[in-house]
Amino acid sequence: MPEAGGGPAVVTGGAGAVGSSLVRALLARGAEVRVIDDLSSGRRDHLPSTDGRLSLTVADVREPTGYADRFTGATEVWHLAANSDVRRGSENPRVDFDQGLDGTFRVLDAARRRDVPRFLYTSSSTVYGMPTVVPTPETYGPLLPESFYGGTKLGSEGLVSAFAHAYGFRAWVFRFANIIGPRMTHGIFYDFFEKLRRDPTRLEVLGDGRQSKSYLRTEECVEGLLVARDRASETVNVFNLGSYDQTSVREIAEKVVAVHGGRARIEYTGGSRGWVGDVPQQLLSVEKIGRLGWKPRLSSSAAVDRTVDEVARERGVVR
Ligand SMILES: NC(=O)c1ccc[n+]([C@@H]2O[C@H](COP(=O)([O-])OP(=O)(O)OC[C@H]3O[C@@H](n4cnc5c(N)ncnc54)[C@H](O)[C@@H]3O)[C@@H](O)[C@H]2O)c1
Repeated sequence: MPEAGGGPAVVTGGAGAVGSSLVRALLARGAEVRVIDDLSSGRRDHLPSTDGRLSLTVADVREPTGYADRFTGATEVWHLAANSDVRRGSENPRVDFDQGLDGTFRVLDAARRRDVPRFLYTSSSTVYGMPTVVPTPETYGPLLPESFYGGTKLGSEGLVSAFAHAYGFRAWVFRFANIIGPRMTHGIFYDFFEKLRRDPTRLEVLGDGRQSKSYLRTEECVEGLLVARDRASETVNVFNLGSYDQTSVREIAEKVVAVHGGRARIEYTGGSRGWVGDVPQQLLSVEKIGRLGWKPRLSSSAAVDRTVDEVARERGVVR
């Protein structure tokens, strides 16, 4: 197995919401960080402005010639670049196949060619489909995703495991609940605020509002990623990351409307799912990572409250 050390870290998707927080945490720990991002949903100004230890290569992960040299001498690759909008994949399944599965294959192949000893991959709770065990542990199966996004995350997990075993590097797979915090460019908070900006009198909510999911703040998520990297030592280490409880879409809609002055009428489109492939209930068991010493500090609702206030401030919405 190639030697792991404290050398440069490559972060694909490092200009995105989770990636830019991870980059900050890695820099704070003294690492040199090389970001590879095509800026499709991420933004250059999401990255800290001047730090000699940080570089950005604007490239599509599906085109390794544009970035493979950045892997030379790296001791870890964090692979986050992907379509991160589950709904987009339900409209065009090719998006997740190309950016998710093909992109992951290309990054894995580039990493093994340069003997990078650690590979860390951000997967999703969507790999569980509609689990019958809730909170859902990492050992749950069979894994039958219901979205193309979840299907290609699961396929990517398989590729990560196969590459790790074939080429002797260590891998981590993180199955995220809903991760929320600064620098988001899509998702429920973004959608609700955007809809109210366009029409402050009504908020259309997809589904019946009873969809309930677990929300975790980005900074806590990043702490979990680093704890698992530092303390887990299997060939392939799989961890859920989420909070202990859930928040319904109705609660989020009501909080956003309240911040907007409370005048908007909430209109539900009906049905238990927001879109094809949406999973109405999601709650992950976080006992496994808890045994390594990481625990969510905020409840899901507290994470939601903080994020609603933060997005309101970012967008200049005053209560
Ligand atoms: N935020 C969540 O709730 C959540 C939940 C489960 C899994 N994830 C996963 O975590 C990762 C980060 O998600 P996020 O919320 O920060 O999303 P994000 O959209 O903010 O970040 C994704 C980043 O990848 C970049 N990117 C996309 N396709 C690329 C390509 N082909 N080549 C190079 N760069 C590309 C984008 O420009 C963006 O900067 C993704 O893999 C996502 O699927 C996120």
